Amino acid sequence: MRAPLLLLRGLQTTLATDNGALTVVDGVDLDVREGEILGLVGESGSGKSMTLRSILRLIRPPGRVSGEILWRGRDLVPLREPEMRAIRGREIGMIFQEPMTALNPVLSVGRQILENLRAHTDLGRTARRNRTVELLDLVGIPAAAQRVNDYPHQFSGGMRQRAMIAIALASNPSLLLADEPTTALDVTIQDQILKLLLRLRETLGMAVILVTHDLGVVAQSCDRVAVMYAGRVAEIGEVSAVFAAPRHAYTLGLLQSVPDARRIRQALRPIGGAPPPPGTVGDRCAFIPRCDFATAACEVRRPPLISIGGGRLAACVHGDRLQQAEWAA
Ligand SMILES: Nc1ncnc2c1ncn2[C@@H]1O[C@H](COP(=O)(O)OP(=O)(O)OP(=O)(O)O)[C@@H](O)[C@H]1O
Ligand SMILES: [Mg+2]
Repeated sequence: MRAPLLLLRGLQTTLATDNGALTVVDGVDLDVREGEILGLVGESGSGKSMTLRSILRLIRPPGRVSGEILWRGRDLVPLREPEMRAIRGREIGMIFQEPMTALNPVLSVGRQILENLRAHTDLGRTARRNRTVELLDLVGIPAAAQRVNDYPHQFSGGMRQRAMIAIALASNPSLLLADEPTTALDVTIQDQILKLLLRLRETLGMAVILVTHDLGVVAQSCDRVAVMYAGRVAEIGEVSAVFAAPRHAYTLGLLQSVPDARRIRQALRPIGGAPPPPGTVGDRCAFIPRCDFATAACEVRRPPLISIGGGRLAACVHGDRLQQAEWAA
C-alpha cells in the first residue's frame, strides 16, 4: 500500500454566520496516498468544497479549522499564514469550483502562470516564459504561444477551466485539490481534462482529490472514493468495491439515484427528502430521516467510521443488512 501523503483527523470547520456558528465540516477523517486519485462525492452542500478549502486553510476568520491536517506528517492546523503560503499553491495546488472568480480578470492568463512560477520555482526569466507556454499547451489550449497574452474573458469557459489547471500545475504540486474541474464543460473537453489528470498522475506522480457529482467520472478515473454526507464521511474505499457493494445506506441511495450503464432498464430512485442543514444533526447518524434502514441503534450515537475489511471504512451500523437487501432486489 502506498504511503499516506495527507491525513485528516477529526477535521472540523466552523463558519461564523448571521445565525451564529455553523459547523460545515463535522469531524472528517480521510487519507490520501502518494499518486492516487481520490474521488470525493456527495450531494450539494455536503461539505466537499469546505473540506478542500480547509485543507489549505482558506477559511476566513472568525471561521475556524480544527482537528489535524497531517501533510507528510506535519500538522498544518497550527501553522501561521507565511508558513502556510509556502505549502499552498506550491506543494498542494487547488482548482476552484468557479474558474471565473478564481482567475484574476485584469491579468493575462500567461501573466498569472508566470507569477506562480516566480513565486514557487527557481526558474529564470526565459525558462519561466517557455514553461508558461508549455503548461498552456499541456492542458490543451490550442496555439498556446499566441494565446498566452489573452485575458480570462477572451477564453471560453472550457479554456478558463484549463487555464486554472495550468496555474495550479505551475509549481508541480504533489497533491492537486480539484473542485469539480469538469462540471461546466462539454463531454469531449471533460474527457480530455480527466485524461490529462490521469497522465499527470503517471508522469509526475501527483495525487489528486477530485470532487465531482458524476459517479461515472469517479468510476472512470478514481482509485478510491470517499462519500460525504452532512459534513461527515459516510464511507470510503476502492471505487469498484464501494460501487459494487455499498456499505452505507446513503451510498446505496446515491447509486440508486443515477442511471447504471450496465443495466438497460432500471427504475431510478431519487433519495427522498433533503440533507439536514449544517449544525442540526447532533450525536447520531445524519442520514436517519431519509434512511430505509434506520433503527434505534442509529440514534444512540454518531456511528464511527470503522474498518470493515478490504481497506474499506464505513460509518453505518446496517452495512450487512444493505448487502442482503441488494441481493434480494
Ligand atoms: N460562506 C458561507 N456562509 C455560510 N454557509 C456556507 C458558506 N459557504 C458554504 N456554506 C455552507 O456550508 C455547507 C457546505 O458547503 P460546501 O460548499 O462545502 O458544499 P459542497 O459539498 O461543495 O456542495 P456543492 O456540490 O454544491 O458544491 C453548506 O451547507 C453550505 O450552505
Ligand atoms: Mg462545492
